[in-house]
Amino acid sequence: MKRIKLVAVAAVILVNPSLALAEPEAEVLHWWTSGGEAKSVAVLQQEFADNGGTWTDMPVAGGGGDAAMTALRARVLSGNAPTAVQLKGPAIQEWYEEGALADISAVAEAEGWADVLPASIADHMRCEDSWCAAPVNVHRVDWIWANADVLKANDISMPGTWQEFNAAAEKLQAAGIIPLAHGGQAWQDATVFEAVALGILGADEFRKAFVELDEAALTSDAMVAVFDQMRTLRGHVDRNFSGRDWNLATAMVMNGEAAFQIMGDWAKGEFLAAGKAPGVDFLCASTPGDGFLYNVDSFAMFNVDGEDRQAGQALLARLIVGKNFQKVFNLNKGSIPARTDVPLDEFDSCAHLSADDMSASSQNGSLLPSYAHGMALRGAQAGAITDVVTAHFNSDMSSADAVNMLAAAVANSM
Ligand code: GAL
Repeated sequence: MKRIKLVAVAAVILVNPSLALAEPEAEVLHWWTSGGEAKSVAVLQQEFADNGGTWTDMPVAGGGGDAAMTALRARVLSGNAPTAVQLKGPAIQEWYEEGALADISAVAEAEGWADVLPASIADHMRCEDSWCAAPVNVHRVDWIWANADVLKANDISMPGTWQEFNAAAEKLQAAGIIPLAHGGQAWQDATVFEAVALGILGADEFRKAFVELDEAALTSDAMVAVFDQMRTLRGHVDRNFSGRDWNLATAMVMNGEAAFQIMGDWAKGEFLAAGKAPGVDFLCASTPGDGFLYNVDSFAMFNVDGEDRQAGQALLARLIVGKNFQKVFNLNKGSIPARTDVPLDEFDSCAHLSADDMSASSQNGSLLPSYAHGMALRGAQAGAITDVVTAHFNSDMSSADAVNMLAAAVANSM
């Protein structure tokens, strides 16, 4: 233990000699409060403590992080930014442009991040010429999770097309099982929507619509078909779906009340935390269609005074991208490491599928940022899309009206 501490202190001194006598501390804002999430963030808390750091936890419950981002804005506006914040995608650059972020280039360079992170991930962590965030993982968004026994008992295999999904859902409904466990919160509607969109639109049209915000792609016939499929899915959720937290929806799949959930692989973290095994208790498959929607969690350090806190930021940044942390954290979280040099032998079959599909997608141009999880668009534009998705899902709005509203909402948000 002593030796680890010394090494840690030496690294901090190397990065910033004035921090030599500082005692690293950090107040960390995050939204990892479900069973699997809490287990994962505990790995970082432990490593921070083992390296002499004092961690003040600031969890803000709410899947997808909307509530956490509201809390962050309030803290920064009152001139009291947290030391480190779970922050990702273009929101990192938005905060940088407001002058709120600390430069962590010294750590990134000392640790050789450029050599161990794929360029597509590293790009999200840079602000102009500096490093401004540290990545912890790669979550995949376009997954279907299923209860293995329920599928077996009903003679259903994992659907490979949306038609197969719909046929399975009807069969399950007739058997008195909830086909799709869903939580009616805007970010969960958006999560399902983008998985459906990727499958129906294909990677190129998805990119045009949700990365480039191309009007023709937003109003295409294929986009009408995406909303049609959302309407079909609406018929396959239970009556009490409104407002349900995502992890409670996962629990419905675990206990056999529901057959499927469409959710990112943080859901796997829930299954694992409950002692369930992939391929035995639950099944994973990518949602129908080709491509890979990535969602990279990361932490940004905010401008704060005090050598102790600045030492805490340097230590945290170093630990987060550390090889061992990336392994242990991601084994719990359901994601795969952001670093490319972490062996995956201890990871399960779902993680291997994710890693294989990610590398295939990155080669054939179908590796895409998740719009629903803040990787593709700035906040205002992503919010405008999600408002339409949710309004459609929770009403009898036609698909044609939805695409028109989508194009108008996007145009207004620019
Ligand atoms: C995502 C985040 C994941 C997971 C999920 C549910 O946006 O990237 O790490 O926490 O929300 O809270």
